[in-house]
Amino acid sequence: MEPHQPSAITGPQAEFPVSARSSSSIPGPFGPFTGLRLFASRDLHAAMRKLVETYGDLVACRIGRRRMFIVNQPEWIREILVTQHAQFTKAFSFRRLQVVLGNGLITSNGDFHRQQRRMIQPAFDREHLEQCAARVPATTARICSQWTSQQACDISQKMLNLTATFLVQSLIGEELGDDLQTLLHAVAEGNRAYTDTRLLPGAVWLLRLPTPGMRRLRETFRRLDELAFRLIEKRRRDATHHPDLLRILIEARDERGRPMSDRQLRDELVTILLAGFETSAMGLTWALGLLAQHPDISQRVQAEVDKTLAGRLATLADMPRLDGCRRVLAEALRLYPPITILGRKALQNVRIGPYSIPRGSQVVFSQWLLHRDPRYWPEPDRFNPDRWTPERQHLQQKYSYFPFGGGARICIGEPLFWTVAPLMLATILQHWEFRLAPNATLDVMPQVTLRPRGGLWLIPQARQTQPVSPSFESDQRESGRDA
Ligand code: HEM
Repeated sequence: MEPHQPSAITGPQAEFPVSARSSSSIPGPFGPFTGLRLFASRDLHAAMRKLVETYGDLVACRIGRRRMFIVNQPEWIREILVTQHAQFTKAFSFRRLQVVLGNGLITSNGDFHRQQRRMIQPAFDREHLEQCAARVPATTARICSQWTSQQACDISQKMLNLTATFLVQSLIGEELGDDLQTLLHAVAEGNRAYTDTRLLPGAVWLLRLPTPGMRRLRETFRRLDELAFRLIEKRRRDATHHPDLLRILIEARDERGRPMSDRQLRDELVTILLAGFETSAMGLTWALGLLAQHPDISQRVQAEVDKTLAGRLATLADMPRLDGCRRVLAEALRLYPPITILGRKALQNVRIGPYSIPRGSQVVFSQWLLHRDPRYWPEPDRFNPDRWTPERQHLQQKYSYFPFGGGARICIGEPLFWTVAPLMLATILQHWEFRLAPNATLDVMPQVTLRPRGGLWLIPQARQTQPVSPSFESDQRESGRDA
């Protein structure tokens, strides 16, 4: 097919003819494996960008007999995620995640997903999130007080540790101790396996192969299962009321009054854990990397933190005066969205913009591309947290920014992230400043989430602030009351 002038299909919806155009007229590269070649590219984002620059905002590719379309228009992405979401199901790539997540919120579909989402939603209600957030400053201060000043460290590992500790605490009301390593290990192994087998549609079956790599992966997942079932069993036996997320899941009932089975509880628990801590950790990692790269912005945010907190632990009530931290995170999620590509499969013929997309096609769209598209973002590659001042942020075109997805499948943890992550960032910046280690870069490595290639190496420098109060717990109770 001939390269196409993007302007021919990127105009406003009103200009399109009423009857939909056939998908065979959608431009794209020629060949039966163009989709596979795309996902095999060393730099997937650059390859996708090249395709949309060449063919326009809707690009046709093939994966054998399967048809795949790249969609690169905010309005069409809104159609897929919001207005026509019922015509789509999760893309086939999610099937591979089922190996570890089972049939939890991320991987389930249809009525079952709707019912589960209704049952789980109360765990993410405002009141409960505020209870979770009350612990954040003390937990963060304690964990980051163990870092070593002036010694280069991979900040992504520190952030994984922090967010996993916090999320486990919120889910089960206590810390995991040695079991935390089981969790971190499962995520690292799962990431590696997901990346290595990204291309193979039958990758789920690879797990059964008797190779050392697959045996190791099976053992990792077995240990994760064992941990999840042990936590559920423990919480069931514990009659005292802990208002933690797992208690809410155990007490949830469907419309016929039935609780979740242990298997379903395991799937939801592992899904929330794995979906929540790695994405949040990467959001914080990129934010700290960007601040290290931009000392002027870092100093401004730090001045705001110092003025607001004056050496004490943060509370939720401080959030309006810590808005710089929120803006830094919003801008980090724009430049380095932890999830960079989403996909759906059409359940029937669906109209997207002027075209009819055939049933069974895959559609993929990328936060990475849209978040750096100069049509929607002036100076798109510039780190500028001021884009997110309350006055400016409402000027953005909807779905030119969607780090948490959108519509019925929008991230259930988004409110938790916005309640907790600014408090974590403020607490870290209260005690530490960072510079990039020699030769450190912000190179990306897309795995299940967008990770820094080879880690993100920063040199933390302890700041001259008041020492962290040793009585974290009493401070925390105070902050809980304030909130
Ligand atoms: C920066 C942090 C986060 C990012 C960027 C992120 C991103 C996303 C995205 C893009 C989706 C939608 C996937 C799709 O439509 O196919 C999603 C779904 C989901 N996220 Fe997050 N997430 C974050 C934090 C969290 C947290 C903290 C939790 C839980 C504690 C969580 C749990 C989930 C779950 C359970 C779903 C599936 C929701 C459903 O389909 O009903 N996420 N997330």
